[in-house]
Amino acid sequence: MTPRKILVTSALPYANGEIHLGHLLEYIQTDIWVRFQKMMGNECHYVCADDAHGTPIMLKANELGISPEELIAGVSERHQADFKDFAIGFSQYHSTHSEENREISTGIYNKLNDAGFIKRRTISQAFDPEKQMFLPDRFIKGDCPKCGAVDQYGDNCEVCGATYSPTELKNAKSAISGATPVTKDSEHYFFDLPQFEDQLKDWTNAGHLQDEISNKLSEWFEHGLQQWDISRDAPYFGFQIPGVENKYFYVWLDAPIGYMASFKKLCNEKGIDFDEYFNKGSDTELYHFIGKDIVYFHALFWPATLMGSNYRTPNAIFAHGFLTVNGQKMSKSRGTFIQARTYLDSLNPECLRYYYAYKLSAKIDDIDLNLEDFKQRVNSDLVGKVVNIASRSAGFIVKKFNKTLSAYAIEGDLYNDFIAKGDVIAELYEARNYNQAMREIMKLADKANQYIDEHKPWQLVKEEGKEAQVHDVTSLAINLFRVLMTYLKPVLPVMAEQAEEFLNIDALNWDDIQDPLTKHQINKFKPLMSRIEDEQISSVIEASKQSVETAKEQPEDDNMIQIDDFTKIDLRIAKIVKAQHVDGADKLLQLTLDIGEESTRNVFAGIKAHYSPEDLEGRLTVMVANLAPRKMKFGVSEGMVLAAGDGKSLHILSPDSGAKPGMKIS
Ligand code: MSP
Ligand code: ZN
Repeated sequence: MTPRKILVTSALPYANGEIHLGHLLEYIQTDIWVRFQKMMGNECHYVCADDAHGTPIMLKANELGISPEELIAGVSERHQADFKDFAIGFSQYHSTHSEENREISTGIYNKLNDAGFIKRRTISQAFDPEKQMFLPDRFIKGDCPKCGAVDQYGDNCEVCGATYSPTELKNAKSAISGATPVTKDSEHYFFDLPQFEDQLKDWTNAGHLQDEISNKLSEWFEHGLQQWDISRDAPYFGFQIPGVENKYFYVWLDAPIGYMASFKKLCNEKGIDFDEYFNKGSDTELYHFIGKDIVYFHALFWPATLMGSNYRTPNAIFAHGFLTVNGQKMSKSRGTFIQARTYLDSLNPECLRYYYAYKLSAKIDDIDLNLEDFKQRVNSDLVGKVVNIASRSAGFIVKKFNKTLSAYAIEGDLYNDFIAKGDVIAELYEARNYNQAMREIMKLADKANQYIDEHKPWQLVKEEGKEAQVHDVTSLAINLFRVLMTYLKPVLPVMAEQAEEFLNIDALNWDDIQDPLTKHQINKFKPLMSRIEDEQISSVIEASKQSVETAKEQPEDDNMIQIDDFTKIDLRIAKIVKAQHVDGADKLLQLTLDIGEESTRNVFAGIKAHYSPEDLEGRLTVMVANLAPRKMKFGVSEGMVLAAGDGKSLHILSPDSGAKPGMKIS
């Protein structure tokens, strides 16, 4: 078979943050696939880059008082060190802020423009008069136009879930300067996506995408495709639009082109033919591994960009789900927002590679890293099963048989059973069903251990005349270990290398296992992996919590609140001066509350099943005094009283004696 020629990419990480375990799910998934392809004898190039452009990166550099170039140079170094230590074997790691990318992006834009796919139109946007810049939605904050929640982002409310445009926000403020934004017009450049509707419909249904993704896209087609705004006004960190003053390509235009640019650099360095990989009609293969959050960009904008500029389109987009830790979104306060470096400080990177492989499939379901399960799985599979086969056999070969394997390594069908699984395991890798591949491999590891258990070389060795049998049993065990390490090599490249050294062989290779090692000298065995201990995991968690305290600039990402979130709630002692039934309401009582202000508050409370009005009148309780008024069927409710309940009974809160209406609670 002629080797396939394959170009593979992972999504380009943003250059304003560190690599974390969520990112690594993708880079490990891709790396395993690439290493597998290479083991199969295919020519496979794996390129990536930092995604260096855009407003957040520009602002972060400003904040740190350095240039964006300085910022991205430092980040790139750290990203690459992290990737290297996790054994992610890029053929090339570049940056979108590069000459190659400027050239190709400009070229593609010019082709799109010449072909009539770029439209111009004036739009109005929020503008920060102090900073003299247009504000992206996430840099505008204000009160939700629907529920009144304060401090919401410009595009959606985290409290009530409403979506809106930033111009609808009340009390809008620039998140950068605090200034009140004004509305300002400017001409924008749009990529005319609707012109590609038919081609995209064909493409997205032609087997290039996972089923879940194709289905999602059908929904998007139903909503209709929109023109895509690809320009941003100065100040912006990016590439200037050719021939246009003060306008730049939107970061998402030149980001995927960064795949090509990184590959271009590789081609220049290695003499690879770039055109063979990107010209239309070429029979090389192109695959993009991405997270499910960026499907729109890769399955619509990107193929359309390539179609419109006369390049080939990808063979497939492989999307994966999101990483959760211990069943929840990664969280800084729980210490589960774990950076690559923090993990590396305490744990072996190949343990994570194995665990991800054990969990990953071709589906886009989220993947949970349960830290207890992680520890047990790695200890039991890698240390307890795989490494154990070698460690319990090697000593005999080294001490009793002059480090040399016996001439006879095939007993019964065991060795043949092992190599017979090679095709199935290869298919599972190819189809990205690593989870099933790992299960097949571990079933074999169990068999190998059973074999040793049954033959008990440690007993045989004490018996008269059993020397040859001990030699054969342990030699076969070493050979079975070799097959297993071959199958695991895409996942555990570092351990595979150590195994190669122990076995005293060239690179473990899929085809070589057809022939067992006989009369072959091996080296002394050194432990290949040690057990994960609880302390290692807890120190990762602790260190991740601490990095929160030092890295305050990043917004909190889960449902923990900070003290200033809490102090936003104005809690007061309220006296229930009146309580009455509400006509037509079977759950509500209407309360009139005195909170030491001139006028009383009217509150509807769902406590009718638990209290009669006369029990309440005259009592003190606690109320939320700054809850935005809510219009209800029976009138406006101007706050909320606090009560505790378990779904069955309900108990309103009372202060200790001495509290007076209007007192603040803190
Ligand atoms: N810069 C863009 C990609 C441009 S590609 C032309 C971007 N960067 S990112 O840093 O936010 O994410 C990089 C990749 O990591 C994406 O594929 C994203 O889906 C993935 N992940 C980021 N966080 C993740 C998890 N928590 N879990 C799994 N994958 C995650 O998007
Ligand atoms: Zn809201």
